[in-house]
Amino acid sequence: MSLINNLQWRYATKKMNGESVTNEKLQAILDAIQLAPSSYGLQPYTVFVISDPEVKAKLQPASYGQTQIVDGSHIIVFASWTDVSAQQVDDYMTNIASKRNMPIEALNGFKDYINGSIANLSQEQKAAWNAKQSYIALGIGLAAAAEQQVDATPMEGFVPAQYNEILGLTQQGLHASVVMALGYRAETDALATMPKVRRDKDLLFKFI
Ligand SMILES: Cc1cc2nc3c(=O)[nH]c(=O)nc-3n(C[C@H](O)[C@H](O)[C@H](O)COP(=O)(O)O)c2cc1C
Repeated sequence: MSLINNLQWRYATKKMNGESVTNEKLQAILDAIQLAPSSYGLQPYTVFVISDPEVKAKLQPASYGQTQIVDGSHIIVFASWTDVSAQQVDDYMTNIASKRNMPIEALNGFKDYINGSIANLSQEQKAAWNAKQSYIALGIGLAAAAEQQVDATPMEGFVPAQYNEILGLTQQGLHASVVMALGYRAETDALATMPKVRRDKDLLFKFI
């Protein structure tokens, strides 16, 4: 199916049937998330893949009781960095030098540019910037799930502080920014057959 057909097929599934996503399909979705672009390429987030029923059961009340959390087979939590440290930028330079087989000193200009651009941001601004990057990964993950014919629900309907506590994120310098439940739609999910509602193109797009 084409990308557009897959995007027509997908919808934010409200009720999942408990069926498990195969490891092969899960890995394809995670591959896409890994390949998501991010500002400077920093990927300032860690992605938690949760299939442990006990952990999912704890997350459900922290998600306003939404049933996809327990009926989906995998809950993907995008946990963005709460800051950007010099060490994290250094680690990124090390990764580039290794993957591109180049001396790390050749990256000093790029490193200084990144550090300079974030130097005047407050910690809150850096956290917000990091969280925005994680939404791009969410979008790519949603498209990849559709390509795999796996249902997915993007979710902001949860209490980040409770997720941080349950998953021990704060002490890792992380904050739960957005969630994606993966699974399969239940036959009783009325939304599955409803027409998509989107703003008309003449309102959404302005051609200049
Ligand atoms: C960032 C984000 C957060 C969302 N949070 C929830 C949520 O917590 N629970 C839910 O059922 N749907 C949630 N949705 C789904 C939207 O309501 C849905 O994507 C939108 O109505 C468009 O419908 P469609 O995705 O089914 O085409 C969220 C969507 C996005 C992109």
